[in-house]
Formats: sequence, C-alpha cells, structure tokens
Amino acid sequence: MKKVIAGMMIAAALGTGAAFADDEPFEMQIDARQGIMDYRALQMGVLGGMVKGEVEYDAAAAQKAADALLAASTLDASMLWPAGSDSDAVMETAALPAIWAEGSDIGAKGKAMAEAAAALQAAAGGGLDALKAAFGPVGAACGDCHKTYRKSDG
Ligand code: HEC
Repeated sequence: MKKVIAGMMIAAALGTGAAFADDEPFEMQIDARQGIMDYRALQMGVLGGMVKGEVEYDAAAAQKAADALLAASTLDASMLWPAGSDSDAVMETAALPAIWAEGSDIGAKGKAMAEAAAALQAAAGGGLDALKAAFGPVGAACGDCHKTYRKSDG
C-alpha cells in the first residue's frame, strides 16, 4: 500500500512539472523569492504577536519561529535575483531596478538582516524582554531594504 501511495506521489509530482515551465520570464525565480519573503513574514507575525502582547509569550514557539526566520535569512538566494527580473520588465514583481544598478547595496542590507535574525535567534527563547529587544532590529532591517528596493503599494 505504501508503495502505491509513493508511486502516486511521484506521478503527481511529475504531472505538475508542466506548471513549473517558464510561462512568464523569471516566473520561478520570482515566485520562489516572494515565497521566501512570505515565509519570513509568517515567522515575524508569530514573534510580533508575542511582542505586542496579542499572544502569550511561549519560549518554545518563539524559538521555533526565530530558528525558521534565521534559516530563511541565510539560505543562498543568489540565483533568485537574475538581472532583468525587475518591476520595469516584469509585472509580477515589486523588485525595483535599483537592486541591479551601479552602487546597489542590497547585499549589505541582506547581510544586516541576517545578522539581526541571528541575534533574534539567540534571544527569542530567553524570555519576553529578550525577544522584544531583538525583534525591533529585524523589523527595521526588513523595512530598510523594502524602502529602497521594493516598489511601494501606493
Ligand atoms: C535585502 C532586501 C530585503 C530584505 C532584508 C527583506 N526583504 Fe522583503 N522584499 C524585498 C524585495 C526586493 C521584495 C520584492 C520581491 C518581488 O516582488 O520579486 C520583497 C518582498 C517582500 C514581501 C512580499 C512578497 C510577495 O508575496 O510578493 C514580503 C511579505 C516581505 N518582503 C517580507 C519581508 C520580511 C518580513 C523581511 C524581514 C524579516 C524582509 N522581507 C526582508 C527585499 C527585502
């Protein structure tokens, strides 16, 4: 029975392969990077709920979210940002062309966020005060990059 299920899962995976084809330019890269951003936002939402007092502080849950956020902040995303995958060229992305322009410091901003996420990961399970202190810098690092390199909704 297990073998049948495994076979079905492989068939399903192969079947959906066509959906991953490049319908739009850089569709896979853009989907993947937006998914990673959404994943970061999910963890920040869990932690932010505790920071704001909307959810009771839970050391294990905070640690789990901070671990996940750090993982999502340190994976190699270099292949997700090919030149030409900017908001002037492709409608589905909010990535501003400035990312690829001369003098872009998006790498430094990414590194700053990863460092803040590492500090948060070290603090999150150590009590609400420690979580609160380390949470702000991560949010600021997200915002700092968005301000410069993400098209605003407005
Ligand atoms: C180094 C720059 C940078 C940092 C740091 C950064 N982002 Fe982003 N973020 C972007 C860019 C650029 C986009 C637009 C991506 C696109 O549309 O292709 C984006 C998009 C998003 C989106 C929208 C995704 C979607 O589905 O369209 C969310 C949510 C998000 N970021 C959350 C976060 C959070 C939370 C953090 C911090 C934990 C963070 N980001 C840190 C650059 C950054």
